[in-house]
Amino acid sequence: MNEELLINADECYRHAEHKAAHYFKSLYAQVLEKTYVPSLTEDIRSWKHNHIHHHSLFSFFSRTKGNPDSHGYHHYIQWLKYTGKLDNYLNRSISYIFMRDLSKSLDSPETLRRIDRVVDSLKNHLSHSTSTNQGAKDETFSMAGLYRIAQKEGVESSLIWVINKLKTVSSNIPKGMDAEQAQRKLIKIIAGVIMQEVEEMNDKTPPEERSRRLDSAIRLGFSYGLTYPFIDDLLDAKILSEEEEKQYSDLIRTTIITGEVPDLGEWEGNNVALIEYIHAELRDAFMYIKNKQRQDTTKNFFEQSYVFFNSQEVDRVKDLSNANYTNEDLYIPVILKSSSSRLIVRSVIGAPEDKKLDDRTFFYGIYNQLADDFADMFDDMKDGAVTPYTYYMKYHDKRLDLINPFEMYWTVISNLIHNVYDSDRKTCEVILDRAINGLKRFKVRMGIKKYNEVMELFATSNPKFNRLIQEMVRKADDVDFFDKLLRDHIITILKNNRREQEDFINTSKTLRNEINHILHIPQMEDMSLMKEPILDAANYSLKGDGKRLRPIVTWFMGINAYGLNKLAIIPLLRSLEYMHTASLIFDDLPSQDNASTRRGRPTLHEAYNVAISELTGLFLTQKAIEEQTSLDQFDSKTVLKLIQYSAQTTANMCRGQAMDLDSKGKKLTLNQLNMMCFYKTGIGFEASIIMPAILAQANELEIEVLKKFARHAGIAFQIKDDLLDLEGDSTLLGKPIGKDAENNSSTFVSILGQEGAKKEMWENYCIAMEALQELPRNITFLKHFLNYIINRDR
Ligand code: IPE
Ligand code: IPE
Ligand code: MG
Ligand code: MG
Ligand code: MG
Repeated sequence: MNEELLINADECYRHAEHKAAHYFKSLYAQVLEKTYVPSLTEDIRSWKHNHIHHHSLFSFFSRTKGNPDSHGYHHYIQWLKYTGKLDNYLNRSISYIFMRDLSKSLDSPETLRRIDRVVDSLKNHLSHSTSTNQGAKDETFSMAGLYRIAQKEGVESSLIWVINKLKTVSSNIPKGMDAEQAQRKLIKIIAGVIMQEVEEMNDKTPPEERSRRLDSAIRLGFSYGLTYPFIDDLLDAKILSEEEEKQYSDLIRTTIITGEVPDLGEWEGNNVALIEYIHAELRDAFMYIKNKQRQDTTKNFFEQSYVFFNSQEVDRVKDLSNANYTNEDLYIPVILKSSSSRLIVRSVIGAPEDKKLDDRTFFYGIYNQLADDFADMFDDMKDGAVTPYTYYMKYHDKRLDLINPFEMYWTVISNLIHNVYDSDRKTCEVILDRAINGLKRFKVRMGIKKYNEVMELFATSNPKFNRLIQEMVRKADDVDFFDKLLRDHIITILKNNRREQEDFINTSKTLRNEINHILHIPQMEDMSLMKEPILDAANYSLKGDGKRLRPIVTWFMGINAYGLNKLAIIPLLRSLEYMHTASLIFDDLPSQDNASTRRGRPTLHEAYNVAISELTGLFLTQKAIEEQTSLDQFDSKTVLKLIQYSAQTTANMCRGQAMDLDSKGKKLTLNQLNMMCFYKTGIGFEASIIMPAILAQANELEIEVLKKFARHAGIAFQIKDDLLDLEGDSTLLGKPIGKDAENNSSTFVSILGQEGAKKEMWENYCIAMEALQELPRNITFLKHFLNYIINRDR
């Protein structure tokens, strides 16, 4: 290697190992002396007063009534509120996070004040988002909710950026890895980095600086978080071949040591495309972090990174069939990887050095790792991964020198409480809560039988202590944590969203096919006398590769939301697509946008001529009305109302289109822009939602809310269309790009710029989502339709 080295890797790793060995030695001595037994026995004795309740009849009822298992997020929070447990629950959870993620010590009055403030605002948020009687409302983790928060903080662009990044990451996660888990981890890391940065600021930080620092935190969090799915998890998942793995590890190693990302070079193996994507993403991420470092933090950052990376490598290459690992071999990398993964967070944001804080982080890490490894021991065993637990499971009979990892776990806890946190009561409380909770969760997940087996295998040599622990696991209450609840909740939401969105896309595909079959306009009479081009022209336009969104929406509204008869509304589906196709024919004319392709084929005036196109446009709008008049399953007054509405729609679309043409080269205001887009595009979407509502005789109030939704969904649709004209792919779109700039059209992009247009799209997205909350009925597909609108690439 002839690149210049930024750090001396071996030396820095040796140095870190040395420190870890020292820590290990002290823990080992405590394991041998069993100091944890008397100290924790004492701690648990006083701890249990707050956790073991002798249930009165009342509390028995309140316990059973509220169903305190944490399956339903909202129910559980409600239950905590109802039983008066919410304050304690949140306090315990936030205190724990301050200790674990921010390495704070809980004996500082300042920290306790901060915790109280966070608890208060979280409580506030939770009472808003969980107090509604409709379980379907879920604002805890909605994109619209997040965007509103980002707006308040002035970091909309960063949120839009990170949402897109998360989306591409999850779509690039290879089979064999869990896309939602990867997303969740990333979200967690980003949240951790943001929390760190927030802790570095205070009330006096000016708002612009706050926004700027939060923006960096989001991007840094993502950049650092990316290493989890794409380095650690990828290497764990055994997706790459052995050679690929080696080549990949070398690449990462070289990057950290030299501070430069090498080119990918020749890649032998089956995963070229994956690696190319990851290489490009990690390179951007790496460069972003590197460029954010100050001169005095760079070296520290690279050293931390190296220790983190290398300790994981050392751990990963261990082989469960090797019977000769020493206790040091087992525990030192654990100490190193768990502490460096946390230490690095502060160095990523370039936080000032804080020796006390760093020490706490260093000592704390192994606690977390041992708790995690305990929970995962059977999965790890299946994967053949070496952890203190799997190794002990396999060799405890033959290797009497091996430390029992469960004893090590309690030793670490005792050491943290008494030696690191100076026997602070609150620390003791929170750590014991967490430890007992971990065992309770494990017991529920594994079932009693398996749990007892595990407890027998890892029993400490002190039966009295074992019994005490088991008694706590059986009887202690109030040891659960919000972050665990949130974790499950986020995964549920991510998985549900993905499933629902897939369902929506699949149903839409099927519908699109069905709609394609009903659009054709048949010959009305014998035309053998003369060639008649209009019908051919109309069918040519209809046959193109359109998305059929308007009739699809109408179908969902009509059938799903209003339970109308499928056959009865077919004419309505046709009429909407006819109206829309007519608008496209006009829009493409040389006198308007002058476009040469549409729906993946030459525009109508290219294939035929302008005159025929004009006539075909008119023809189709009339055909649309004719279809509506054949809605004979409905009451005629209702149909009349529908036709009136429809005629107004077409007229308004013409007005919108004229405004559009008239505004070429003009600098419209945002209000004018919104109005123009509502008329030219929003109204068409409104029609597809409102027409079935008219047929179903929905009440005025509901129609008003639906109109509000449609208006903003429609505008969001047009903004996305404007953005695609700038950054889309014309083959996918089936129409040319760059047309708006060429025509000097006034669009969201030309007036607000690309970033501004994105923000405005999100603004409209949020208003539309919020409108859905006002609806008296739950129309989930509208939510998915809206998500589709802003995420589509055609
Ligand atoms: C294009 O509409 C015209 C706009 C309102 C921006 P679509 O994007 O729905 O076009 P097709 O029907 O799929 O061709
Ligand atoms: C068209 O807007 C609006 C209509 C409903 C005709 P655009 O002119 O942006 O539509 P595309 O991009 O040509 O499809
Ligand atoms: Mg146009
Ligand atoms: Mg156009
Ligand atoms: Mg366009």
